[in-house]
Amino acid sequence: MRAQDLLDPATVIVGVGRASPPPGWDGLWVTGDYGDGRTYENLAQTLAGVDATGCGGNRLYYLSVPQALFGTIVAKLGAHALHRPTHDDGFVRIVIEKPFGSDLSSSRALDAELHRFLDEAQIFRIDHYLGKETVQNLLALRFANAVFEPVWNRQFVDSVQVTVAEADGVGHRAGFYEHAGALRDIVQNHLLQVVALMAMEAPVQMTGDYIRDEKVKVLNSVDILDPNEVGNEVVRGRYAGYLDEPGVAPDSRTETSVAMRLHIDNWRWAGVPFYLRTGKRLPKRATEVVLRFSAVPHLPFAPVQARRVGPNQLILRIQPDEGITLCFAAKVPGPEFVLRTVAMDMTWAEEFGTEPPEAYERLLHDALEGDATLFIRSDETDAAWRIVQPVLDAWRDDPSPPVTYAAGTWGPREADRLLERDGRAWRNP
Ligand code: BG6
Repeated sequence: MRAQDLLDPATVIVGVGRASPPPGWDGLWVTGDYGDGRTYENLAQTLAGVDATGCGGNRLYYLSVPQALFGTIVAKLGAHALHRPTHDDGFVRIVIEKPFGSDLSSSRALDAELHRFLDEAQIFRIDHYLGKETVQNLLALRFANAVFEPVWNRQFVDSVQVTVAEADGVGHRAGFYEHAGALRDIVQNHLLQVVALMAMEAPVQMTGDYIRDEKVKVLNSVDILDPNEVGNEVVRGRYAGYLDEPGVAPDSRTETSVAMRLHIDNWRWAGVPFYLRTGKRLPKRATEVVLRFSAVPHLPFAPVQARRVGPNQLILRIQPDEGITLCFAAKVPGPEFVLRTVAMDMTWAEEFGTEPPEAYERLLHDALEGDATLFIRSDETDAAWRIVQPVLDAWRDDPSPPVTYAAGTWGPREADRLLERDGRAWRNP
């Protein structure tokens, strides 16, 4: 889809870059270096020309650049007074992509740089998982239904699993990935955002800051690990063959998978383990949340029958094959009282007759409308970095490489042990 298709016909797209515009570009183009003041003089002139055609002076800057340039660009926009609206009821917004920093201190430094020129309300931090319909549907499932919320807590939930699995390897993105790794690339943002929506309290209203307030509360309730505990709670994996990928350093210690156990210390979730995992080169691409419910207090069936049925599970399939499955025990027809686990299934495509739309379509639309509900607020980023920082610290000080797993498997054996020692097992999608 072309960006222009998303926009009001009166909108003009202006690209800025050192190279010439990409083939098929149908907007205006300003050629220049991002660190050079002349680029912004030219940009200001171009935008003034656009305003003269009746565009109204509203601006949405989309910084699709490496994060090291965010601060420079915003400072230059500020120096050329391009960070403020040209009239009272106009707007200037900045959309930036993750990663927001590479650890807690760099994220705070970046935030301070942005806030030198911009108000928080002008900053739209994208985590594209929030643009996914199935992620937003977590809110509908929980807060538009009477049946789920009463059991959505420590009294009924035994444990929660969130899996973000990818079949692809790092491909040609080693330049980026070597500095990120799975913890920064997926856990700090996508995974923790899903956890926040899954675990938060009901917001006062389904809008902007009400939802983000509740997400921050959950992230702030996560039990922050001591670096000494990391070895016990977090598994750092790497697929066999990663070191042979183009652009990967021979002595790389970058992880391509993470499995971790975390706890949310609040009234709803105290004592319920949350098992998170992500990885590249796993058997398939699949993101899902699994709520495993506690066992019934007494099962009045023969032990052999009891063994045939597992705990009730609610599986939220975020992607692909989007949908929801509830697994429960049923009697198999016949004279004997035989039990089996059965499933009730809602499949997105069947129900709505369509595939969920692209996350970015929704997010760019919302940024243009000024609706920040699905964007990450500064305090959310900060809370998420606080959760992963002890892991980064422990790994930085640990000279051993990540544990290896064979490509096409569900990650290292150690990730299975993380659950086995609690008497549990991963549900593989
Ligand atoms: C990106 C990561 O944010 O998300 C990639 O940088 C990852 O490494 C991608 O592949 C996964 O997104 P999705 O929507 O395919 O789950």
